[in-house]
Amino acid sequence: MTTPQTIVHDHEGFGDAVLQVKNLSIDFHLRQHILHAVRDVTFDLHRGKTLALVGESGSGKSVTARSLLKIVDRAARMTSGTIVLDTDGKPVDIHALADEGKEIRAIRGGRVSLIFQEPMSSLSPVHTIGDQIIEALRLHRNMKQAEARAERSACCRRWKYRTRKR
Ligand SMILES: Nc1ncnc2c1ncn2[C@@H]1O[C@H](COP(=O)(O)OP(=O)(O)OP(=O)(O)O)[C@@H](O)[C@H]1O
Ligand SMILES: [Mg+2]
Repeated sequence: MTTPQTIVHDHEGFGDAVLQVKNLSIDFHLRQHILHAVRDVTFDLHRGKTLALVGESGSGKSVTARSLLKIVDRAARMTSGTIVLDTDGKPVDIHALADEGKEIRAIRGGRVSLIFQEPMSSLSPVHTIGDQIIEALRLHRNMKQAEARAERSACCRRWKYRTRKR
């Protein structure tokens, strides 16, 4: 990704959008050529709403999603656009954050989570979904193990998932 730009302080026009993506373009600089993976994508995600990005295979849905968390491949360059996320009522320019800084790490798995495609390669047989929920609660909500376990169980009951007793 290119050099970070500015943090957005201007609240005006943010409305109830929790995420605003404007004119996002991402290229991959490959050995022989430049691949235009995402071209001029614009959308707003509003509080309490579900938004689906729909497009043919290779149209850039996953690269768009990964760019929200700054986990795109090193060969990727964001050539245009802005990604602005409402974080505790404050708009944050995601592209301006350091790739591995504490700000983006606080957002990853806390404010924004990604469930990766291909469950066979993305999910780990040794880390249960419950363990991953507990890890997120401990990291992002500073819960102790017992409290996180209780919250995990409450979540799973709400979603009607059964958890393994341990
Ligand atoms: N790490 C990478 N290096 C080079 N090119 C990539 C990389 N990741 C994705 N691409 C290319 O970027 C384009 C967009 O890929 P992306 O994975 O976002 O598509 P998608 O819309 O999620 O497709 P699908 O519906 O198959 O999941 C494709 O041409 C893909 O080959
Ligand atoms: Mg995809």
